[in-house]
Amino acid sequence: MFSAREPIAVIGTGYVGLVTAAGFAELGSEVWCVDIDAAKIARLERGEIPIYEPGLAESVTANRERLHFSTELAPALEHARLLFVAVGTPPTYSGDADLSAVNAVVDAMPRSDDHALVMKSTVPVGTGAAIRRSLGERGKEGFAYVSCPEFLKEGSALDDFRHPDRIVVGDDGDWAGDAVTQLYSPLEAPLVRTDIASAEMIKLAANAFLATKISFINEIANVCEETGADVLEVARGMGLDQRIGTHFLKPGIGFGGSCFPKDVSALKQLAGNSGYHFQLLTAVIEVNELQKRRVIGKLQKHLGSLVGKSVTLLGLAFKANTDDMREASSLVLAARLQADGATVTAYDPVAESEARKLMIGVQFADSALDALAGSDACVIVTEWPEFAELDWATAAPRMRGRLVIDGRNFVDPEAVRAAGFVYEGIGR
Ligand SMILES: NC(=O)c1ccc[n+]([C@@H]2O[C@H](COP(=O)([O-])OP(=O)(O)OC[C@H]3O[C@@H](n4cnc5c(N)ncnc54)[C@H](O)[C@@H]3O)[C@@H](O)[C@H]2O)c1
Repeated sequence: MFSAREPIAVIGTGYVGLVTAAGFAELGSEVWCVDIDAAKIARLERGEIPIYEPGLAESVTANRERLHFSTELAPALEHARLLFVAVGTPPTYSGDADLSAVNAVVDAMPRSDDHALVMKSTVPVGTGAAIRRSLGERGKEGFAYVSCPEFLKEGSALDDFRHPDRIVVGDDGDWAGDAVTQLYSPLEAPLVRTDIASAEMIKLAANAFLATKISFINEIANVCEETGADVLEVARGMGLDQRIGTHFLKPGIGFGGSCFPKDVSALKQLAGNSGYHFQLLTAVIEVNELQKRRVIGKLQKHLGSLVGKSVTLLGLAFKANTDDMREASSLVLAARLQADGATVTAYDPVAESEARKLMIGVQFADSALDALAGSDACVIVTEWPEFAELDWATAAPRMRGRLVIDGRNFVDPEAVRAAGFVYEGIGR
């Protein structure tokens, strides 16, 4: 019998791993955290949090005595039976998921009848079966396996851990599935107990559906622009239909981040590898790519050629309340602007140090107002709350031009126009 307070291990201390570790530590578990990134582990041991996630630093500090950090697997194996795997599964050049980090973890497992791998990393359907097979071929068939996909959202990850919409446990009906169920029981979330392949598919299908919703409303927004309708009114009118729902009907500059782009692509490739052409996802991906670039068209419509123009990007992270720059729309925008001859100045309250590594030739400012100095146009890229408070009357005289493209429909158009700007949102 597994006790909900029994120690656990978390392998990979990134966004998912560290939040999972902190969350279970809050529930009273001792958590043995492992990462191959020695610098990251050293920072965590010093009490520093390597990522920005609201509430995470406070939670790690408050539960510090229950959190153990190491680059070695041995202490984790010694103290814990459930080993949560939260290593990265980035896209390969082909768009499939790169499972090399997952495989490295599997390869490092010893023979054991007492341990289980609990897969939090997002993996293609069939990965669990392949891992079980590979463990069996090496005489490690006693190692149990559970698929327990993660649904947290960066920016509210800890809150999502504490109040999940559901917990999905895919297993072979052995002790490990019961143990994971037991571990999550204090959260009192609806449980979906299923087979491993279905659990893997639930994660991919959920993300693909949400991405589809985003690309759908973005296309509606684009048609609204052609026809004179206001997409915000349309989205509200649609969303009140309970079959549709209000979530993920916010038009903007396309989805980014570490999950949607790669998971949609991974599901499309997975289908293709199985002989099925997933047409809908092909369109979802293409619409998203074009949506990021539509902002360039809007700038050209107002400014003409972008050669020699100065454009300010407000917000760089792929969404607010995170420092994650993976697949951020700002990266595409900055590169396109530079290719068209514009100079780019940028400000992000949290993501600047990550952004500096990825955005070559971009000038970084210490505040939104500083970033706007001398600029011909401002593009709102990330919906950071502070941009809703921006004093446009103060910004206007500092700028060379008077154009605001609001890629998130986030700031108040009337306040912007009252300060003498031309305002253009998405689909309005
Ligand atoms: N970030 C999200 O919002 C989110 C949400 C749900 C699911 N996921 C999935 O969770 C997984 C992890 O995502 P993330 O954003 O936390 O990634 P991340 O890149 O932030 O963290 C991964 C960590 O794993 C470590 N690592 C790599 N190989 C290792 C190994 N062999 N042993 C120990 N540690 C190793 C890395 O050093 C890194 O610290 C991915 O599969 C992702 O798709 C992510």
